[in-house]
Amino acid sequence: MRSVVLIIIFLIAASSGDSDFNSNVAKFSVELLYRTMQDAGWQSRVMSPYTIWSLLTSMAYENLGDTWEEVSNVFLLTKNRSEFVEAFTNLRQSVFRVNNMVSWNFLFYDENFHIHSDSISRLENNFGFITRRFNFKDQQGATVFRLRILEEHLIPTIGWHGVLSIQDFINSTMIINNFSQFYAEWSNPFTNKLTPVYNGHRNSTGYMTIMSAKGRFRISNFESLKATVTELPYKGREYGMLLIRPHSGHEIQEVFNNLRNISLNDIFAKLQNDGDESGWNEVEVNLPSFSDETRINLNKPLFKMGLSSMFDENSADFNNFSEDDIYISEITHRTSFVVNFNRTYIITTTPTLLPPSKSKRNDWTVVKSNDPFIYLIVVKSTVTLLFGGSYTDTILYQPF
Ligand SMILES: *[C@@H]1O[C@H](CO)[C@@H](O)[C@H](O)[C@H]1NC(C)=O
Ligand SMILES: *[C@@H]1O[C@H](CO)[C@@H](O)[C@H](O)[C@H]1NC(C)=O
Ligand SMILES: *[C@@H]1O[C@H](CO)[C@@H](O)[C@H](O)[C@H]1NC(C)=O
Ligand SMILES: *[C@@H]1O[C@H](CO)[C@@H](O)[C@H](O)[C@H]1NC(C)=O
Ligand SMILES: *[C@@H]1O[C@H](CO)[C@@H](O)[C@H](O)[C@H]1NC(C)=O
Ligand SMILES: *[C@@H]1O[C@H](CO)[C@@H](O)[C@H](O)[C@H]1NC(C)=O
Ligand SMILES: *[C@@H]1O[C@H](CO)[C@@H](O)[C@H](O)[C@H]1NC(C)=O
Repeated sequence: MRSVVLIIIFLIAASSGDSDFNSNVAKFSVELLYRTMQDAGWQSRVMSPYTIWSLLTSMAYENLGDTWEEVSNVFLLTKNRSEFVEAFTNLRQSVFRVNNMVSWNFLFYDENFHIHSDSISRLENNFGFITRRFNFKDQQGATVFRLRILEEHLIPTIGWHGVLSIQDFINSTMIINNFSQFYAEWSNPFTNKLTPVYNGHRNSTGYMTIMSAKGRFRISNFESLKATVTELPYKGREYGMLLIRPHSGHEIQEVFNNLRNISLNDIFAKLQNDGDESGWNEVEVNLPSFSDETRINLNKPLFKMGLSSMFDENSADFNNFSEDDIYISEITHRTSFVVNFNRTYIITTTPTLLPPSKSKRNDWTVVKSNDPFIYLIVVKSTVTLLFGGSYTDTILYQPF
């Protein structure tokens, strides 16, 4: 009998190393973002490509045969595992160098599931996994145990009871959870303006909060993207948000597609260059204060990128990991995101930070934004794409 591995990744909140390695990670990340947005019909979504990359590559060397061939092609992995671990560790150190980002990785497995003991130590020692073995057949007990372990690591689990469900233990033998939290304050804080927006469909005017800041921002026009890119730096300037606005007459999806053909390095280089040439004039940047919460299933986007066998009951080959036959049934990724005048916070757990429920409140309406944009949160030294998303819907507040 084949068993099922369930991977659930929850995100809480929000040059060093080898540049080829890092740009391969960036390339994968942009492609994954593109495929995910495509799968979502180009609606507002947010995700963390780096988290998915780190999780899947941690498991990559546990694959053999065709599954290994596939994984190593998609991630451009070297056969030399120690070399990979070294580059992975360097990248992780640069991502977590400043305290804005924290993250935990858990692997829970059923006591009847036979994992090679050296696999467990590889995951613990090289990739920082916290592993626990318990009885999945007792689903109630397993759910309580899992919550307790998360709480022991100070992961806030309030409101998670509906998410970490008993269902997860049915048919699975292993669950991987990754939790990350990102918090950063802007280096130039914004001021809020409650701004009226005419909503053509309903003959009414709603209000939205527009954040506005003046400063020497880096802004460039990218003909190849059909978009303008603005860098909004965070305090310390290790991280930045790239705000990518399509030129008028061009759609979000076209810009996402163009992004696949330009490297993040080139974007940063042009931003710097254009600033130097123009003398860093003061400019005003406006964007809506926004929040989003999305849960996405990544099976299809990853499949389209060429990872098919790890999801296939008959061909998945994790035999360097376990003597039991396993495959990945599901990769779900959940992210909550708050961007406001002084900070960016990415979290899943605190209900008050969640966006207003889009349908339940009658003083809110959701309309298509007439100023949609793409945002990327990037570690600048390594061009690592921590988070990426699109803003296509506006929530209007009707105070009267
Ligand atoms: C997920 O967990 C792994 C292993 O602990 C860690 O290396 C990785 O950095 C975590 N998440 C993110 C966003 O990187
Ligand atoms: C693998 O990489 C490690 C670390 O970079 C290196 O010391 C070792 O010589 C390499 N092994 C082979 C067989 O190339
Ligand atoms: C577990 O597997 C059985 C048999 O394949 C299937 O009918 C059932 O829907 C599965 N349950 C869950 C919760 O996935
Ligand atoms: C829109 O609202 C205004 C003010 O309430 C009203 O005078 C006008 O007739 C409305 N127009 C339509 C098309 O409903
Ligand atoms: C991307 O670049 C490749 C070669 O560099 C080119 O063949 C392709 O048409 C480009 N795609 C887009 C969408 O510009
Ligand atoms: C399993 O992985 C380890 C670490 O990469 C490696 O040393 C070992 O040779 C692998 N086993 C097989 C059967 O490929
Ligand atoms: C940012 O704004 C929040 C309220 O939205 C406030 O609680 C917090 O103290 C502010 N932080 C700074 C550094 O101003």
